[in-house]
Amino acid sequence: MAEPAGPSISSWMIQSGAGSCPWPPRPREPVPSVPPVEEADGSPLRYGGFRAASCAHNKDPMLRNAPSVERQVDGKMLLVTGGAGFIGSNFIHYLLRKYEKIEIINLDKLTYAGNLDNLKDIEADPRYEFVHGDIRDKELVRSVMRRVQGVVHFAAETHVDRSILDAGEFVLTDVFGTFVLLDALREAPQVEFFIHVSTDEVYGSRDEGFFTEEDPLNPSSPYAASKAGADRLAYAYTVTYGLPVIIVRPSNNFGPYQYPEKFIPLFVTNALEDKPLPLYGKGTNVRDWLYVEDNCRAIDWLMRWGKTGEAYNIGAGNEVQNIRIAEKICDLLAKPRDLIRFVPDRLGHDRRYALDCRKIRSLGWKPEADFERALETTVRWYRENEAWWRKIKEKSRAWRSFYDEYYRNRKGMKKE
Ligand code: NAD
Ligand code: TYD
Repeated sequence: MAEPAGPSISSWMIQSGAGSCPWPPRPREPVPSVPPVEEADGSPLRYGGFRAASCAHNKDPMLRNAPSVERQVDGKMLLVTGGAGFIGSNFIHYLLRKYEKIEIINLDKLTYAGNLDNLKDIEADPRYEFVHGDIRDKELVRSVMRRVQGVVHFAAETHVDRSILDAGEFVLTDVFGTFVLLDALREAPQVEFFIHVSTDEVYGSRDEGFFTEEDPLNPSSPYAASKAGADRLAYAYTVTYGLPVIIVRPSNNFGPYQYPEKFIPLFVTNALEDKPLPLYGKGTNVRDWLYVEDNCRAIDWLMRWGKTGEAYNIGAGNEVQNIRIAEKICDLLAKPRDLIRFVPDRLGHDRRYALDCRKIRSLGWKPEADFERALETTVRWYRENEAWWRKIKEKSRAWRSFYDEYYRNRKGMKKE
């Protein structure tokens, strides 16, 4: 791809507290071929710290809780909720590529964010089945839960700005929907693991340092608060009923198939259309960007090696200010940087998210994508898949009404 000369984005990456970052992303340590089955000091594994309760899942809590051998995924049937969304569809592609004998049920309501176009190339694969439905539908959820040996729960309302306009669906899907799934899990003792996909946003914002999994949750948007509710509910079900739940808290993902309301795809597609790029506040907020493929690998890793009852941060250490990404997108597409418009800040805008990822890295996972290359690949994907995002931006009423309400008349959108 032709790229105008300019400073590399890695030179702008936030140097997090000059050496205080527990896992500087580069250089990276070698990964052990098999994750350790003991704590670093050689002591026996911690078994997640939940007390046994009377439940079918507690028949052998030690074994279920901390596999000393790899949990088998191939040959199993998995329930993936929200598999028609951004991360879910990437995850399904990833699993079908990696595991020859896996079977996947994708339960998705197809909200505005769910898109079967994301899965077109695998829809006829005999290992894949789509169930159109709502995770809040108790009967439906029970019936699919009975058929599977593992669950990866992505389904949620996910956009912070929409949650600021109206939080109702967030509470109903993210909290109540998770409750329905967890309750169905109580009656499905054959399920060996339930990965609950939470988010780094549950911790809230911090100017310095990094959140560990032990830090208190302090969410500041209605989206993050709903996710925090679901996260703690998942934990409570592990403690109370001994269910084999593993909580993952990934940082901001980017990559193909991300709905164009989110920062990177919004800016890339608007730039391709020569439309303004609405940058909130001064553009100095910081996110830790994780390429979606790395997130899929991490979730797969935790299906196999994660300890039940535990939470795991997933981040790549790619801390970048929003304005740097906006400028880089303009440069990659050879568009003028004055497409960037500074607009009034998002309400309650978290300044910085930053994760300490020692826990998952001690199991052997590490991110592989180089941020700058992955951003180029992502920009190229949107350039080469215009039909995919134009269908949303030009044909979806949900898209148009949100964009009109949230951006169209926002101060700063028009060139001064
Ligand atoms: P997305 O908005 O792209 O997709 C959400 C999917 O869930 C859609 O397919 C939608 O149709 C489905 N869904 C929504 N409500 C449903 C319901 N009631 N029943 C069944 N299906 C329903 O989301 P995403 O970005 O892929 O995020 C997936 C998960 O990862 C979410 O739980 C999110 O909180 C979490 N997460 C996302 C990021 C990120 O950067 N995108 C980062 C950390 C965590
Ligand atoms: P977003 O993709 O919404 O993810 P989150 O808020 O969940 O981290 O936004 C990423 C960053 O980009 C965040 O700091 C807000 C900022 N942003 C803008 O400046 N303008 C926009 O139009 C959007 C959608 C986001």
